[in-house]
Amino acid sequence: MCGIVGYIGKNPAVPVLLNGLKKLEYRGYDSAGVAVIDGGKLVLNRSVGKLHMLEGKINGYVHNGTIGIGHTRWATHGRPSDNNSHPHTDCTGKIAAVHNGIIENYLELKEWLEKEGHVFSSETDTEVLPHLVEQFYQGDLFEAVKQMTAKLRGSYATVVLAEDNPDTLVAARKDNPLIVGIGDGEYFFASDIPAVISYTRKIIVLEDGEIAVLTREGVTIYQDGRQVEKEIQTITWDTKAAEKGGYPHFMIKEICEQPRALRDTLSGRIAPDYSGVDLKEFNLTTEDVKKFRKVAIVACGTAYHAGIVGKYAMEKMLRLPVEVDIASEFRYRDPLIDSDTLVVIISQSGETADTLAALRLAKEKDARVVAITNVVGSSIAREADHVIYTWAGPEIAVASTKAYITQLIGIYLLTLFLGKHLGTIKPDEVSQILHYIYRLPNQAQEVLDTLNEQLDRMATVFKKWEDTFFVGRGLDYAVAMEGSLKLKEISYVHAEAYAAGELKHGTLALIVKDVPVLALCTQDDVFEKTVSNIKEIKAREAHVIGVAFQGNKEIHKVVDEVVYIPETLPLLAPVLTVIPLQMLAYYAAAHRNCDVDQPRNLAKSVTVE
Ligand code: M6R
Repeated sequence: MCGIVGYIGKNPAVPVLLNGLKKLEYRGYDSAGVAVIDGGKLVLNRSVGKLHMLEGKINGYVHNGTIGIGHTRWATHGRPSDNNSHPHTDCTGKIAAVHNGIIENYLELKEWLEKEGHVFSSETDTEVLPHLVEQFYQGDLFEAVKQMTAKLRGSYATVVLAEDNPDTLVAARKDNPLIVGIGDGEYFFASDIPAVISYTRKIIVLEDGEIAVLTREGVTIYQDGRQVEKEIQTITWDTKAAEKGGYPHFMIKEICEQPRALRDTLSGRIAPDYSGVDLKEFNLTTEDVKKFRKVAIVACGTAYHAGIVGKYAMEKMLRLPVEVDIASEFRYRDPLIDSDTLVVIISQSGETADTLAALRLAKEKDARVVAITNVVGSSIAREADHVIYTWAGPEIAVASTKAYITQLIGIYLLTLFLGKHLGTIKPDEVSQILHYIYRLPNQAQEVLDTLNEQLDRMATVFKKWEDTFFVGRGLDYAVAMEGSLKLKEISYVHAEAYAAGELKHGTLALIVKDVPVLALCTQDDVFEKTVSNIKEIKAREAHVIGVAFQGNKEIHKVVDEVVYIPETLPLLAPVLTVIPLQMLAYYAAAHRNCDVDQPRNLAKSVTVE
């Protein structure tokens, strides 16, 4: 999501910046821009669209400036446009900044800066950055950036360039990656290694809270105002691997990005006192909410599985009937919806043909439509009445991972928002759920850090079989569906998901000695029932792997092996239980030498019926 490049050295900056940005294209973007100091003046070029559009704009003018910053933007605050593209500048046009992340308190800062006389020209959160630097600038760019960061809430990697400082670039980071590249008489900032690897293999990874200053002589890094010594790492990957950040496939990279994706999706949406959710973009009133008689969730594939989690969560907390439909079914079954129905459309791409058609049908029937989508300005985002964006960043692997997990967050936030208006969730319950939601990014990281080896080993069991089973009850069943889809779509191992209580109505006939069965057991209220089903499976000598919370003292007695996940509320368990299932599918596919990122017959965005 978004790419940053900064350069200071002996060569013209523009080609270096463009080349670096091209290497970051895999991150996804919808506009691009560069700023350089040329002939003592800060010169800006920006364009909506791909990098060739920006190159077209620059074409014919050779910039000789040897210092500059560049950016590819993946729209979050404000649609993709020339004007919303980075770099953004201050009132004088002499200070420019590029930024990745989300400035949560930008509206507050903007209001303050406007009172101080600053004039804004874009819809972005980023534009507050150059104006803040302008506000604090008294000849020392480092000091001004330091004061700027003290004002910010949210996440950022930012690089600032100022006309009055033609030999200095200053960068800061918090919760967003940024590296320094150390070349021979030239220095770089970049959001990822591929941008610099053709110039240097020596890098420094900046940590949260650090501010780095690049001059023509070298790099100095500060933490809390004090200079710090940093280790210089030498990159040994080849350039192709570098695009995947050193990971062998985009899918595993995206699985590992999930803690960050969760953090970004939650960013600014939980009230500081945990009293409620803040969906700024969402202007439904209590009166609107009280009109709804039912909820209809419509989506395809993985997004549909997120919708099933939504049904369980919403019916429990809102006490409203919730239907979940596959979009291609919904659109042809003349659904019973009207102006008293809230239709929730879920789509990563925002362009899936059936889902878009379902949205249009819902609008024809006067339903109120909320979209949960990952792509700003997509057709679904544009046509819905309200949008909750998931800030997963671009998902490149066909198999959806970080999009799913952030869709779940979108659903929980929407449910809490509606529940508060309807009065069906008590304030202390809202606060408790939000406290647990807030912990999810760190817990997701814990899952990634602790279960990797175990799942890699387990995948060797699953990869050998032609048929495998995923079972669970309630929310566990919803996640079982997603786990089985992951396994089959990328490893081509047949996997079926069953509501655990349903097995004996037919499928138990397929349970034979050693067949792998993954049993999810996180739902307290049906735990004993699930254990009974596991016993039925074990009686047929299947190999059962349980997924349960760390504190569960019973599960190991009934299964062959347990995958333990950190404790959370059963309601939120899907966010954590799906991660081992994604990893299991990934490793099974990798061990079977499958084309993990582009499985046969499948496309990332299904824009045909
Ligand atoms: O872009 P969408 O979320 O609308 O896509 C819907 C499905 O095609 C998608 O979720 C698909 O099932 C996944 N890529 C599978 O991992």
